[in-house]
Amino acid sequence: MNGKRILLIITGSIAAYKSLELIRLLTKSGCTVEGVLTRGGAQFITPLSVSTLTGKKAHKEMWDADAHEMNHIELSRRSDLIVVAPATADFIGKIAQGLADDLASSVLLARNKPVMIAPSMNVEMWENAAFQRNLSQIKEDGVAVIPPQTDILACGESGIGKMAEPETINEKIEKFFADAEMLEGRRAIVTTGGTIEPIDSVRYISNFSSGKQGNAVALALAKAGAEVELVAGNVSDPLPTHPKIRITKVSSADEMNASVHGMLPADIFISCAAVCDFKVVNRLDRKIKKQEGLELKFEQNPDIARSVGELPLKERPSLVVGFAAETDNLIENAKKKLLDKGCDMIVANHVGNGAVFGKNENQASFVTEDNVKNLDTMSKAEVGRKIAVWIVENIEKRLG
Ligand code: C5P
Repeated sequence: MNGKRILLIITGSIAAYKSLELIRLLTKSGCTVEGVLTRGGAQFITPLSVSTLTGKKAHKEMWDADAHEMNHIELSRRSDLIVVAPATADFIGKIAQGLADDLASSVLLARNKPVMIAPSMNVEMWENAAFQRNLSQIKEDGVAVIPPQTDILACGESGIGKMAEPETINEKIEKFFADAEMLEGRRAIVTTGGTIEPIDSVRYISNFSSGKQGNAVALALAKAGAEVELVAGNVSDPLPTHPKIRITKVSSADEMNASVHGMLPADIFISCAAVCDFKVVNRLDRKIKKQEGLELKFEQNPDIARSVGELPLKERPSLVVGFAAETDNLIENAKKKLLDKGCDMIVANHVGNGAVFGKNENQASFVTEDNVKNLDTMSKAEVGRKIAVWIVENIEKRLG
């Protein structure tokens, strides 16, 4: 972690005293730490303790910036990672809602860096439905949460809510930087969502893809250090925000195809989008009246995965991954697709009985030339991480 810059935000919980130990551990590992205290945080520990340990000014107020710098923006820009420890229920609620009424919450809203938080609170607060909603929201927004421990809490009640120990937080930060370097310098293109194939100026054909899985893959690759081009069709799920993800919105399969090929060369191509197989040939640029009747003629869309998978070796990404969504004979079909599209792996998932589309969970199999690995049912975020790990393990072999 030598040379890494951590912005440590300390909010108002008794666990704030442990943040001083965290600063010590981080600086020992070679990090530079800059501290921000909320008003609550400063009730528990003083700015002087923080600045003594960090060797830098401890920030408290929104309004004490020099005239030439905007503190809330600068603080995020000059860090590599923002850590909130301890993070109170109130602070988590604020960042879930995008509120910014003090320096710490404004830094979070103006951030362009990854965030890791270590919550600390009473067990009832932790279990409260309103808090759990906020927690789910920030996780969905890409914030990494270091879970609290179950123990006797400072308030005397027992249960979950005690902030993770400084050593654990330090380890998570170490792991974050180690992971973030796994795909450093690699460029990935990921497609997500369904394509939209117009019928006339108001109607279209599409599919039920939510974009959840593709978004999760993009985020996992970015967290592993890759520069990610996310080409997004029609998605019902929010697109991920991460400094290493660049989003390009497209609509039809033709647009997606042109966009992907315009972005090559790349090291990795993950074709997660549900590309419509057909487009309407006799589409009109006006609204068709219902009295006119409707007879549609279709032609096949380009197969984007295949067009990338079959590129000459010099132009082809080192790893090309496709997806197979099938109701029947899943593995057999996935194996066919692997060969047909020139992919290195097909991620196969069952779509029967409304499974997969729009859901948070997925049951996937990794199908490669010589192996079929069935994963348990897990969140799409977790499947995304497994795909990123597979990429890390295989990209080196590929590059020889
Ligand atoms: O052939 P099928 O649509 O089942 O294959 C699914 C895989 O192929 C997915 O990875 C999807 O993103 C990709 N695909 C594509 N272009 C198409 C159709 C599918 O890239 N026109």
